[in-house]
Amino acid sequence: GTPLPKSDATVTLKIDGFDVTVPEGTSVMRAAMEAGIKIPKLCATDSVEAFGSCRLCLVEIEGRRGTPASCTTPVTDGMAVTTQSDRLHKLRKGVMELYISDHPLDCLTCGANGDCELQDMAGMVGLRDVRYTKGDNHYAPTAAGSLSLNDIRAKVPDGSDNARYIPKDDSNPYFTYDPSKCIVCSRCVRACEEVQGTFALTIEGRGFDSRVSFGGASDSVLSSDCVSCGACVQACPTATLQEKSVIEMGTPDRSVITTCAYCGVGCSFKAE
Ligand code: FES
Repeated sequence: GTPLPKSDATVTLKIDGFDVTVPEGTSVMRAAMEAGIKIPKLCATDSVEAFGSCRLCLVEIEGRRGTPASCTTPVTDGMAVTTQSDRLHKLRKGVMELYISDHPLDCLTCGANGDCELQDMAGMVGLRDVRYTKGDNHYAPTAAGSLSLNDIRAKVPDGSDNARYIPKDDSNPYFTYDPSKCIVCSRCVRACEEVQGTFALTIEGRGFDSRVSFGGASDSVLSSDCVSCGACVQACPTATLQEKSVIEMGTPDRSVITTCAYCGVGCSFKAE
């Protein structure tokens, strides 16, 4: 969800007909979670401030026009929120369809299979078919109508036909960075800033061309300001940032002894 604020003042609202009392300043998404109601989400997490970029967590609020993002909308006393309706289902499905139309569908061989929030959310919103494929406008509807997920999987098995395709960067000894799987939710960027206090990551470009960048002279992870704390890897909802497995790295040929009690990552890996 979103972080739960610390406040002694409380607010009571109705979510899907249930009364919920939460600290003042709580987001609608967090209030729903406290009441056991799950709202689909991709860019919000418990540990970093909400950003409102994925547009999956839309809700309806009585007396308010449009469908605000529940992660960035604070609760108010007496508010009446609806989290499930035909209109919301349609909107969320449409958003997921756009994400999936631009994502490699190599799920069965992907390292995040079974632990991927994009996969989970596609299931949660009931996405079965995708009407879009890569075209001149990136999101051009196909002439033949809908493509099934299997059709798209066959078309872009490894992401090489993906407009956002940029080769995987495995320069960091602890994790890999695969931009073709990035949905630009910026969770990694916010985790780097808010959890670690480092500014190694940024969003570069605009619109469809926007992407997460590690900056640095050669734009490789290793040449960036990244301190390998792992906060971005933890925050990533897809296989974009993934821990290297023991199998991939092989058995260690030396051991690192650290007395640092701060995070225990062993950041002296550059030492002899
Ligand atoms: Fe609210 Fe992404 S979770 S906009």
